[in-house]
Amino acid sequence: MSILIKNGRVITATDDYMGDVYIKNEKVTLIGQNLEMEADEVIDASGKYLFPGGLDPHTHLDMPFGGTVTADDFETGTRAAAHGGTTTIIDFAIQTIGHSALEGLDTWHKKAEGNTAIDYGFHMILTDMEDDRLSEMKTLADEGVTSYKLFMAYPGVLYMDDGMIYRTMKKAGENGAIVCMHAENGIVIDEIIRVAVNEGKTEPKWHSLTRPTLMEAEAVHRTISISKAADVPVYIVHLSSSDALEEIVTARAEGLPVYAETCPQYLFLDYSYYEKENFEGAKYVMSPPLREKWNQDELWYGLQTNNVQIVSTDHCSFRFKDQKSMGKDLFTKIPNGAPGIENRMGLLYQGGVIEGRISLNRFVEITSTSAAKLFGLFPKKGTIAVGSDADIVIFDPHRKETISVNNACTHHMNVDYNAYEGFEVKGFTETVLSRGKVIIKDCKYVGKKGDGQFLKRGLYSGIK
Ligand code: URP
Ligand code: ZN
Ligand code: ZN
Repeated sequence: MSILIKNGRVITATDDYMGDVYIKNEKVTLIGQNLEMEADEVIDASGKYLFPGGLDPHTHLDMPFGGTVTADDFETGTRAAAHGGTTTIIDFAIQTIGHSALEGLDTWHKKAEGNTAIDYGFHMILTDMEDDRLSEMKTLADEGVTSYKLFMAYPGVLYMDDGMIYRTMKKAGENGAIVCMHAENGIVIDEIIRVAVNEGKTEPKWHSLTRPTLMEAEAVHRTISISKAADVPVYIVHLSSSDALEEIVTARAEGLPVYAETCPQYLFLDYSYYEKENFEGAKYVMSPPLREKWNQDELWYGLQTNNVQIVSTDHCSFRFKDQKSMGKDLFTKIPNGAPGIENRMGLLYQGGVIEGRISLNRFVEITSTSAAKLFGLFPKKGTIAVGSDADIVIFDPHRKETISVNNACTHHMNVDYNAYEGFEVKGFTETVLSRGKVIIKDCKYVGKKGDGQFLKRGLYSGIK
């Protein structure tokens, strides 16, 4: 199968030029101008941008959490991702306490295999790393799972104490892997929650008011200190606040291998969403929570200055009607997480490029290239270049859409609300190719369940 895309404006993290792209056997095999070769299909991309497919390195599909299971599984979640121009995800497999991490990986392989629309890798959430289990981490890395997520939050569920964090980090460093951290001080937060609940504070907004930014900043600081002692690179996931960002800026100025992602919810939404009537605030219950609006400018500044390198979604969808409602009487029972896998690229293009905060090249870098580099997938993923997988988004920079759960061009997630309801975005993912096959065309999914392949990722090699 061969495809020739003609007259597109090719945009990578470093380049911006007019070109034709020839694809054969799933790869980009030639890029040039006025290419005249025969192809099974010719696509005219005049007036359109060609972006590398997006890479979302933080998703939770088919994940048991908060007394239920996420609404999107690997089929619905990856299809929705594709609609939004994301062609690779890295999802989080989980080690259950008392069980082998390899067992957890096996479980996640079974969930994903044969079901995904796009290529996927796994990070491993480690919860139980006594000495006798540490050797499993090397096996994981050999299997292409070269990053581990640890939690300072959620005591009794995914939480790891500092001793185990240090032990796990040390082993990760020896293995050449990177550690992803959920940085919130869960022990202090649980105490704040206990007091609040005793005082009868039960509505969704208390989820946010009991998780202060200082407890995020403290955990980021501790992560960095422990990682320095353990000699391992760290990646702070879902960074939400200016206080926490300050810790990252300080560490990076010291030259430490400290990286961070933020997510659209922290760039576009804010605390006021928790005050919505009729329990609607529950739609935005996630951890860390939405912050006061002024934090958004600081996070954008973090992206502009490369102190934050990546925008992921932390897509973790729960239906409003029968899942978020589990916490109708008490905010602690609302499952934590929000949907977003489909809208990341569109929102970032609008808020970043259209609104003048970042360049086109930086847009590609933060939505695709940096994640591919940091997580051992570059140059297979994350760029448009000869030899790379032909994961390409043909993007119409003029078309406008209003994001809505009712808009068949902006919502395919298996969840009954859209967190960005009513947001207007200019620029639209018109066609998506995954490994040289068109899978999205004019708002329609034309791929096949199971097209996606598992990606064995390389070891950490550092990025700027
Ligand atoms: O609220 C969130 N973020 N849910 C997903 C799990 C996590 O902590 O990433
Ligand atoms: Zn987390
Ligand atoms: Zn997450």
